[in-house]
Amino acid sequence: MESVTDTLGRPLRDLRISVTDRCNFRCAYCMPKEAFPKDFAFMQREKLLKFGEITSIVKAAVPMGLRKVRLTGGEPLLRKEIEWLIKGLRAIEGVEDIALTTNGSLLAKKAPLLADAGLDRVTVSLDSLDDATFRAMNDVNFAVERVLAGIEAALAAGLTPVKINMVVKRGVNDDHVVAMAKHFRGKPVILRFIEFMDVGTTNGWRLEDVVPAGEILKRVTAEVDLEPLQANYKGETALRYGYADGVGEIGFIASVTQPFCSACNRARLSADGHLYTCLFGTQGHDLRRLIREEDASVEQLTEALEGIWRMRADRYSEIRSDDTRDLPKVEMSYIGG
Ligand code: GTP
Ligand code: 5AD
Ligand code: SF4
Ligand code: SF4
Repeated sequence: MESVTDTLGRPLRDLRISVTDRCNFRCAYCMPKEAFPKDFAFMQREKLLKFGEITSIVKAAVPMGLRKVRLTGGEPLLRKEIEWLIKGLRAIEGVEDIALTTNGSLLAKKAPLLADAGLDRVTVSLDSLDDATFRAMNDVNFAVERVLAGIEAALAAGLTPVKINMVVKRGVNDDHVVAMAKHFRGKPVILRFIEFMDVGTTNGWRLEDVVPAGEILKRVTAEVDLEPLQANYKGETALRYGYADGVGEIGFIASVTQPFCSACNRARLSADGHLYTCLFGTQGHDLRRLIREEDASVEQLTEALEGIWRMRADRYSEIRSDDTRDLPKVEMSYIGG
């Protein structure tokens, strides 16, 4: 099959699958406690896609050019027996890369199981090495050592390259970027600094809180020599830099100051089976209904996906404006990071 492209000529290569909207952390930039209190009504279990339903959707997307799958949430390791989903995905011919984005809280326990199931690599969110700052940012008083232990377990299990995502917020953890770079330098870990994004409607995003990637780069290069590296693939989110002495790599995800929509080849599947063609989407396409009510076959799902993808015109981060700011955007914990 010829690769299907959207209205801007972009193919579908990467599907990010949210397997649960729940999380045991309450990072203010993602699931602030005020919006996600203890009694918050998360999705009911029967609404969640079953593993077989997820693998059918992935199988349907492979003929369109899908090559990468990322499991996200919420916190994906809260989903029971996720290793069985990984086994199912691993068995699909054409899926070349299976990654998982996690807060690392359960990784020390689960890393070997995930690797055995066929997971290729993990990306761990970690916003500071300073215990007090980290506890305040996850807002559930979770100790940084436990995440560091999870990272070590991932390395030992071969879930490499391990990437670390640090969301930088002005006045909160921007003073910790150099310490992070120094800590992970020389380890088989790729640290990425992420600009705080205006996802969803509950995180109180303000442009003043964003620390531009260029500013972080200056702070880091004041202490260590860096050289720009080529992108690994078209549409890569991170701008890559290598340490001049060759002992590792860091990246910058500058979706606010340097958007990368023009090569965006990603789609997102919410835990309840809605397909979103942009992180900032306002409306998903209900694939669960096609599967459960219309008994759609994999071939029929491929047709549906093609129809959706051909119409796609999203480039939110490039046009971010007063007109789009107040749209009823979905939350990242729902749609998947
Ligand atoms: P690799 O496959 O390792 O390159 O990972 P990735 O950078 O595609 O994914 P990851 O989950 O590590 O995302 C890192 C950060 O980039 C997160 O904050 C994401 O929300 C953000 N991000 C990922 N994809 C997109 C996207 O399509 N648009 C925007 N605006 N941000 C994105
Ligand atoms: N801006 C930027 N990154 C965010 N993440 C969650 N919310 C935001 C936001 N508002 C990050 C998480 C995780 C990744 C999937 O997305 O830290 O690493
Ligand atoms: Fe949970 Fe990750 Fe969101 Fe933090 S950023 S609340 S760890 S899903
Ligand atoms: Fe892709 Fe939308 Fe992100 Fe742009 S804002 S890179 S179109 S997901």
